[in-house]
Amino acid sequence: MKSDELFALLRRRGYLWPSAEIYGGAQGLYDYGPLGHALKRRLEEAWSAWFVGLSDDYHEIEPADILPEAVVRASGHLENFTDPEVTCDSCLTAFRADTILEKVRPEGVDGLTFEAIGGLLREHRIACPRCGKPTLSVPRPFNLMFGVDLGVTGKERGYLAPETAQASYLAFSRMYEVGRKAMPLGIAVVGRAYRNEIAPRQVLFRMRAFTQAELQIFFDPASFAPPLEAVASERLPILGVAAREAGAETPEWVTASALVSERGLPAFYVFHLAHTFRFYRDVLGYPAESIRLFEKSATERAFYNRIQFDVEVHLESLGGYKELGALHYRGDYDLTRHAEGSGKDLQVLVAPDRRIVPHVLELTFGVDRNLWALADTGLTTEGERTLWRLSRCLAPWSVAVFPLLKKEHRERALEVVARLRDAGIRATYDAAGSIGKRYARMDEVGTPYCVTVDGETLDPANANFGTVTLRERDSRAQERVAIEALVGQLGGRFAPPRPPASYDAGPSAA
Ligand code: GAP
Repeated sequence: MKSDELFALLRRRGYLWPSAEIYGGAQGLYDYGPLGHALKRRLEEAWSAWFVGLSDDYHEIEPADILPEAVVRASGHLENFTDPEVTCDSCLTAFRADTILEKVRPEGVDGLTFEAIGGLLREHRIACPRCGKPTLSVPRPFNLMFGVDLGVTGKERGYLAPETAQASYLAFSRMYEVGRKAMPLGIAVVGRAYRNEIAPRQVLFRMRAFTQAELQIFFDPASFAPPLEAVASERLPILGVAAREAGAETPEWVTASALVSERGLPAFYVFHLAHTFRFYRDVLGYPAESIRLFEKSATERAFYNRIQFDVEVHLESLGGYKELGALHYRGDYDLTRHAEGSGKDLQVLVAPDRRIVPHVLELTFGVDRNLWALADTGLTTEGERTLWRLSRCLAPWSVAVFPLLKKEHRERALEVVARLRDAGIRATYDAAGSIGKRYARMDEVGTPYCVTVDGETLDPANANFGTVTLRERDSRAQERVAIEALVGQLGGRFAPPRPPASYDAGPSAA
């Protein structure tokens, strides 16, 4: 489906729409309606179960999302969190340099200096995309953070958090005490990030306010050894730097163990890369062949990273592979910078005679981008039927209950809804339109099961007395199930998967 069509469908169904729509919308800002909100919640819950569930020493916190200026100065965001902006001297419109260079340089401008970007603009004689005049300025750094004045005097400067990660670094020393000095220690945040994107576009892909789910694992590099054997034979779709330099665009399938033994990646990194791949394939349900793990070179990756693989999924609506998340090995960059900035010693004792600044492995996940990507890859048309093949744990509603006849079967159907809800199953009631229309509505929003109460359910003389029809979404298979047995049969099918017990990262050897 094209991007416009997909957005129109999601808007029509009440998943999302532009913020302040009645005023013409606000660029880069979106509101989620009931279904979008529910799907987003499920995604966050699934992420948390899979990643925070890796260890009892990994915890989720809920920090403030305004950062004092000293924090973003120490983190490097004040200086480095910029995009190259060019302005047209004639019509005064501002553009992102990589956006206007897209046709001649589709790979983007990551790693290029501002001079080099300016050179490309001149070399290709790029004119203003709006007014067509050759009056574009030289590229200038544009800081993406939103500054805010705190308090009445406005002298105290704050910034809306550009990433949730910083809050975890700020919380490290407190959490280290609260967590009884466990190492590795995980701190997760699912929260808002704000970026004043120069050119918000592609709906949920370049937003100005969006949700990130990020886990920061603090560890001692000398002893961090999650069980690589649990994922060693997993084949991963790798697009490495060397392959890219040789012109490859499609990934090659490499086992996790070969990434360590042949490509020299650290075992702790590869373990989490495989765990992340399994999340996208097995929990979120993206087709394995649509995923690639894209290695960033030293000049392309973010300034704080030593190793970076982006998780990309091929999206028809956006015409190619798009980044949905990433794994960043940030070394001791963050805690070192915050120790300098705050004057607080952030070293920890890992052995009687060894104090270290912990290293950080960051697992980052864009919640909004994944919501869009799930719609792109999951919504399919089969003849007249539109079907969203959503993983069971992600569906906004797990079960829809219908009375075959609106009046006669209503009471019993509502009882079934209550029974399912009492068992913690997300059930909804729908009596509007024909049964066929109701099935179609539920297929389109990805509801895995529909239950119908009919005349046989209520007729003591009928062999099907006390039973309902249970219909499965993908196969459309139907069976009669006793109402008494419904919870037993369905319960437990909707919980987000957790990592196998063998994954526990456990305390480090130190
Ligand atoms: N803490 C690391 C960090 O923030 P990032 O690559 O800038 O790294 C992480 O962002 C993830 O956040 C991305 O992979 C993407 O999924 C999501 N993301 C980043 N910018 C976004 C934007 N403007 N709109 C929507 N999602 C965005």
